[in-house]
Amino acid sequence: MKKIIVAIDGFSSSGKSTMAKELAREVGYIYIDTGAMYRAVALYAIRNGWMTADAIDEEALRQHVGEAVIEFRPNADGRSETYLNGENVEREIRSLEVANGASRVSTLGFVRRELVRRQQEMGRGKGIVMDGRDIGTVVFPQAELKLFVTASPEVRARRRMLELQAKGEAVSYDEVLANVVERDRRDTQRAESPLRKAADAVEIDNSRLSREEQMEIVRKLFNQLTVDN
Ligand code: DC
Repeated sequence: MKKIIVAIDGFSSSGKSTMAKELAREVGYIYIDTGAMYRAVALYAIRNGWMTADAIDEEALRQHVGEAVIEFRPNADGRSETYLNGENVEREIRSLEVANGASRVSTLGFVRRELVRRQQEMGRGKGIVMDGRDIGTVVFPQAELKLFVTASPEVRARRRMLELQAKGEAVSYDEVLANVVERDRRDTQRAESPLRKAADAVEIDNSRLSREEQMEIVRKLFNQLTVDN
């Protein structure tokens, strides 16, 4: 069976990482969460005092971003977790504070160039499913399968709220919806690699699809490209 690159892009909380993980597990590919890489850089900047609520010390971050070693290692259940300079930061990078920081550092060209270079390196052997915002447009414009995942802001805010509440964060629907809308605005309107659908990407709106219905669509597209006939 031919090995390919699967590039999955979409808005925050669109369910793209669930889709990407599930596909990678089914077909035995490596899953790479590029959002986690931007989150790890944000955490690195926060911890070193280079990013505060209202400013980023761009010079310091530019100088040191190359020293942030970001790795993915499987935990006991086989799920991939994010490590920053050898430390497991999987829980910490999922907070709302780090999510907002990631959205801010991801607007910086020098951060994007560094992470895109690392992502391209990870995909050299193919056999990967990578999700993010610019995978089909910038990181792997030659990817064999490109998916663009969407869902309405209201559906995404509801999913995100349930996720955060399950983790014990007390958040209201209105607060989460405002955060979703603000992140959409930043992701689509930034000057550097804004989120957009690649011309040859297949769009999947999952507002009204179950997880399994969505997987059936993805499985079919993947098989069309990889099963030798
Ligand atoms: O997918 P996520 O919520 O974990 O992403 C965190 C932030 O990083 C989000 O604001 C968008 C940004 N991002 C990006 O600009 N490019 C990527 N390839 C992945 C994420």
